[in-house]
Amino acid sequence: MNTIQRAVLVRAYGGAAAVEVAEIQKPTPEQSQVLVRVRAAGVNGIDWKVREGNVRNAFPLPLPIVLGAELAGVVDAVGPGVSHLQVGDRVMGAMGGLGAYAEFVTVNAATLSRTPEGLDDVRAAAVPVAAVAAWKSLHHAGSIYPGQRILIHGAAGGLGGYAVQYAKRAGAEVFAIAGTADLDYVRSLGADYVLDYQSQRFEDVVRDIDLVLDYVGGEVLDRSWQVLEQNGVIVSTVSPDILARKPANRRGLWFMNKPDPELLEKLAEEIASGTLQSKISEVIGFADIPEAIERNRTASRAGKVVVDFSR
Ligand SMILES: NC(=O)c1ccc[n+]([C@@H]2O[C@H](COP(=O)([O-])OP(=O)(O)OC[C@H]3O[C@@H](n4cnc5c(N)ncnc54)[C@H](OP(=O)(O)O)[C@@H]3O)[C@@H](O)[C@H]2O)c1
Repeated sequence: MNTIQRAVLVRAYGGAAAVEVAEIQKPTPEQSQVLVRVRAAGVNGIDWKVREGNVRNAFPLPLPIVLGAELAGVVDAVGPGVSHLQVGDRVMGAMGGLGAYAEFVTVNAATLSRTPEGLDDVRAAAVPVAAVAAWKSLHHAGSIYPGQRILIHGAAGGLGGYAVQYAKRAGAEVFAIAGTADLDYVRSLGADYVLDYQSQRFEDVVRDIDLVLDYVGGEVLDRSWQVLEQNGVIVSTVSPDILARKPANRRGLWFMNKPDPELLEKLAEEIASGTLQSKISEVIGFADIPEAIERNRTASRAGKVVVDFSR
């Protein structure tokens, strides 16, 4: 039996060259775990943030570390104490950490969802982090109500594409901010107002916002306080230091995602049935992962980049 497998890992923090395709031991599932044969994995911003050591204080991780935050595949072996999954089951999920860029991965079985019929592995791998993080960050500061004015930075990105749809379905008035090339896309998702961050300053044209979803961070977050309504709030998935950056009379919350297999299963069913749109911008092969991680840092396209392990 072959116990060696390919994985994409970081041995020491650094730039693009710090990521390598290497051979490592295939793991064995322990208590409450299953071994998943990974068929596809999604590329996320956390890959390059860990690579560079940017989040080493928030997430102290032992090196070397295999990157990759979400996967879809098939159960290859079942560890002790797992009764609800069997060898051959199709599963999808967020790692709740990292490790998805390996041909075989052990995962806590309780964090996995069954992949719906009608959703292939590549489409499934685009969903676990972004669809759940968008839903939870949208609801992080409270329930969404009809007429609520919601501004979304990064509306064409992995999270933003879902958040526009969720907010619209809840009856909110949605202000979506994206790049020139993606304006028609965010409009097609139902945004009421579409702003081009490359040619407009949102603070010149928008005010009285009840909720800002900050999927961009940095100076975009700093400029956003002025568009809030008196009791408005900013939820950021990018700036853990949002409280330190917040003016005294304003409300801001940091959001940190966690796997939610029940919510994921529900959202994945909606994608499979076509009632929720999920956009994949590019499908790449395993050897292309290091470059795709770097491109996530330097440039982006609407939707998600997914690794197809069969390529
Ligand atoms: N805290 C958590 O638990 C958590 C969970 C998931 C994700 N995240 C983080 O949340 C962020 C968003 O994730 P994602 O997967 O949606 O990223 P993504 O797919 O890279 O999307 C980011 C989007 O922001 C757009 N953008 C860049 N500058 C902008 C600006 N000034 N104004 C408006 N939009 C702008 C980009 O457009 P262009 O194509 O024009 O560059 C891109 O479409 C990332 O930083 C990610 O690491 C955090």
